[in-house]
Amino acid sequence: MIQLIRGVKDILPGDAGLWQYIEREASSLFENFGFKNIRIPIMERTELFSRSIGEQTDIVEKEMYTFEDRGGDMITLRPEATASIVRSYIQHRMYAADPVQKLYTIGPMFRRERPQKGRYRQFYQIDAEVFGVASPLMDSQIIFMLMTLFSRLKVSDCSVRLNSLGCPECRTAFKSALSAFLESRSVSLCEDCQRRRDRNPLRVLDCKAPACRQAMEGAPAIGDFLCADCRGHFDAVMQNLARLDIPFETDKNLVRGLDYYTRTAFEIQTTLLGAQSAVAGGGRYDGLVKMLGGPDTPAIGFAIGMDRLSEIVAAHFGDFSRKPRMFIAALGSACQALAFEWVNRLNSEGIYAEMDMADRSLKSQMKQADRQGAARVVIFGDTEMAAKQVLVRDMATHEQTTVPLESFTEYVTKM
Ligand code: HAM
Repeated sequence: MIQLIRGVKDILPGDAGLWQYIEREASSLFENFGFKNIRIPIMERTELFSRSIGEQTDIVEKEMYTFEDRGGDMITLRPEATASIVRSYIQHRMYAADPVQKLYTIGPMFRRERPQKGRYRQFYQIDAEVFGVASPLMDSQIIFMLMTLFSRLKVSDCSVRLNSLGCPECRTAFKSALSAFLESRSVSLCEDCQRRRDRNPLRVLDCKAPACRQAMEGAPAIGDFLCADCRGHFDAVMQNLARLDIPFETDKNLVRGLDYYTRTAFEIQTTLLGAQSAVAGGGRYDGLVKMLGGPDTPAIGFAIGMDRLSEIVAAHFGDFSRKPRMFIAALGSACQALAFEWVNRLNSEGIYAEMDMADRSLKSQMKQADRQGAARVVIFGDTEMAAKQVLVRDMATHEQTTVPLESFTEYVTKM
């Protein structure tokens, strides 16, 4: 038997109902905040990701699914959605109609990480991006939107971690302080960080290797190097969050694993998922649209890890698969023919009804109805046909009622 490849999973019908519920809640909430759905391709030119996420990040260096297609182009399965949405914003000149665009998408992403609970090689994100708004009001608003979604989904145990990564101006001073610090710790750093040290020292702060973590204790923090504008922006974000009653903690070690961030960076963390504590992450990326060839446009966004979110939400919600409102147990071909008409009519009118199509006995039809979780069984056999009525059995209370055939439609409508 051919099995799944490592790090990917099936989302079976029992779980998929919960996924659909989360997706519906997210879409409807985001649309209340003015976001519009966008669908972007699963593969893009490799260069789009290596340039925006950064050549020296773990994602680009080690985790991308990249291949040369038959035409010789280098193609990558998207490891995230932000770069593609930026490409689309530029390519379709969305800014010409209105520089302010709020977009969201939901779908699979691919990273070749070491699989473990909450970490997959094909995983799903709910991603939201805002273009054209530089104001710190937007930073706070999207965090508010995110936390509102989590509260609607009854995710209580989660906290907002917040940092500012500054702008290229404040980063220059920070990078030289960091480089000097790294030089003093150089021998303790892992092989990757030795390489990153000179070209992209910020990435060393993000390294998960225990030796690097230890070596980086006491490293300079970007927060101490913010220019006046970045400081003011960060303070305003915090004030607005307080105004919206969103608790948060500042975390000077939060640098995020992608290179494009400027100013606000945040993560939503939970203690419910063991090692994989980040259930969502995001931040501002004011330089990316220009870097990829578009007009100078501020932008901010986030992505929620659907796999992680659904695991938390599953703990509060029961089975999401839809149960039949009724099961029509018909006996004999004449009754079955009528049941067939009814079931199709009910299904097309929005009522989930089931029937047996294998000429089973009444006893096994009752069992089948029970297995499917039907709310009631409508029994329809020769005796009922002769008396021009059906017998309705409530599966929870076991109460039975007879309903005249002529008022069956009315009964169903009232139900
Ligand atoms: P990220 O932090 O790389 O950010 O991913 C966002 C979320 O996706 C994580 O917090 C996590 O919940 C989930 N995630 C990431 N990798 C995996 C994995 N291997 N298995 C399961 N879940 C995973 C981004 O992707 C940015 N594009 C977010 C963003 C949007 N920033 C601005 N706009």
